[in-house]
Amino acid sequence: MYPQFPPGFRFGMSTSAYQIEGAADADGKKPSIWDTFTARPGTVRHGEHARVAIDHYHRYAEDVRHIAEAGVHDYRFSFSWPRVQSGTGFYDRLVDTILAAGVRPVPTIYHWDLPQELEDAGGWMNRDTAQRLADYTAMLVERLGDRVRDWITLNEMSVHTLYGYALTDHAPGRGLGLGALPAAHHQLLAHGLAVQVLRAGGARSVGVANQHFPVLPAGDDPDDVAAAGLFADLTNWTFADPILRGEYPNELVVAGIGVDGAQLARDLEVIRAPLDFYGVNYYEPTMIEAPRAGKDYAGVLEVDIPDGLPFSPVPVKAERTDFGWAIVPSGLTGILTTLRDRYPHLPPVVITENGASFHDAGPGPDGRVHDPRRIAFLDAHLRAVADAIEAGVRVDGYYVWSAIDNFEWAAGYDERFGLVHVDRETLARTRKDSWYWYRDLIAAQTRS
Ligand code: BGC
Repeated sequence: MYPQFPPGFRFGMSTSAYQIEGAADADGKKPSIWDTFTARPGTVRHGEHARVAIDHYHRYAEDVRHIAEAGVHDYRFSFSWPRVQSGTGFYDRLVDTILAAGVRPVPTIYHWDLPQELEDAGGWMNRDTAQRLADYTAMLVERLGDRVRDWITLNEMSVHTLYGYALTDHAPGRGLGLGALPAAHHQLLAHGLAVQVLRAGGARSVGVANQHFPVLPAGDDPDDVAAAGLFADLTNWTFADPILRGEYPNELVVAGIGVDGAQLARDLEVIRAPLDFYGVNYYEPTMIEAPRAGKDYAGVLEVDIPDGLPFSPVPVKAERTDFGWAIVPSGLTGILTTLRDRYPHLPPVVITENGASFHDAGPGPDGRVHDPRRIAFLDAHLRAVADAIEAGVRVDGYYVWSAIDNFEWAAGYDERFGLVHVDRETLARTRKDSWYWYRDLIAAQTRS
């Protein structure tokens, strides 16, 4: 009835600091780029912000119970860099609570909430930010490394670069177009430097969480195939090739990064350090064509690609989530086999995020939150992972995005990805049907 996974396969749930914590000023925390961005009118749907978010900062003990009682092995959360700058007290309490509940903490060091003061100094366009992330990593290892042994460096450098630096949809909203490529390189360098710090600090396992998706050409026309290839280079391979084979996928990217040959070679040596696992976040495939004059491409993706670039997104024909994202489970099998074929030295993969937003109604008279479409989504995607394992890809774990409804960046709180429902007025938590389903799926695994 439930898809089955090899013994030792690790089930988990994911969140990130800015999306759940709230307590924007607690502990003397200074603003992150997301505090600044959300304070600007017109950036987030309904003018929402995350100053309180789902108040995880105060309700973390309850939230850890919701996670642990599902029987997961791992919990992926992230540290707020600006909060850590004024101390790790909150994370000491959080990590102790996770461990006491019998769950392995697998934190992400950086999930998009750069301290505003670093953005003021150039943010990820400034090479020095990479070294600053390494220093911040050293502080985390010193304070928490006795209890945290498994680490993820950065989350989705591609989306952060594209939405935050190339476009204006996410913080810091710079809108630099292809001029944003140095932000990609500096995050990759930060990843490599963080790996060095984590290794020196005795980490048990180190990985990264990259977003991946198949890029499908709209047809056989060579222009469409070339457009899809370039788009795949910019969104997928620019962020994976340097880590997994020590090079950038094409000359346009190398030119855009603007680091001279000898320095680039030294940087790539740092970036390509071996990893213990490679985290894949998967949501939906993208279909691309060469732009047709006069055709309107607005609204196809969550964010619009400006005119004048040599690729345009066209809708994938598929059922959709309430966020409008195409539901294509086979895309997950496809990206996993593609990664395996592209990288002879691919480390074991962990699906560090996968999930769907449906606009679930709060608890009904029976006290339950019924979310059958999320169950169908997760079931189909887990089967797609099982297919990839069957095809010879080594996948060691799968984490649902997300443990709990939260602040979905520029889309605010309408988009609910959680296994646990949060009432926007009272912040009360209710386990959804999908939470029970996931618990039962984990319990139904043969573990020997
Ligand atoms: C991010 C999460 C986000 C999720 C759903 C990923 O891009 O890492 O922070 O909430 O996808 O959009």
